[in-house]
Amino acid sequence: MEPLALLRELLTRSYAPYSKFPVAALVRGRSGTLYGGVNVENASYPLSRCAEQNAVAALVAAGEREVLEVWVMSQGRLPALPCGGCRQVLAEFAGPETPIHCWLPDGLGPTYTLGELLPKAFRL
Ligand code: THU
Repeated sequence: MEPLALLRELLTRSYAPYSKFPVAALVRGRSGTLYGGVNVENASYPLSRCAEQNAVAALVAAGEREVLEVWVMSQGRLPALPCGGCRQVLAEFAGPETPIHCWLPDGLGPTYTLGELLPKAFRL
């Protein structure tokens, strides 16, 4: 499936009963495989997980270590950009030139590089 169809499908599976703000994410590994994630909230709010983090976890669990492209889909007037924590999680496996597409369900929205969204990332 293409990223747009995958993201739309994923968005319906988001678990966001508290914020009512569904988010879906896809990351493409070096193999070309697309790994999906959705936000999964919890009654103990801080335990909620963002869609991007869950997509990265799926990529790592599949044995991959590189994120070559990222998509984030949300609803509303403007597309959501990855939160600060997700930018740092992406920086662990992606480079500063990695494109991050921030789409609404129509597949439209801006593309940024990780370096634009997280300049001077923390590294050990
Ligand atoms: N959320 C994400 O999934 N990714 C982000 O980058 C920003 C925020 C989720 C967390 C929470 O479930 C909901 O959006 C509202 O903050």
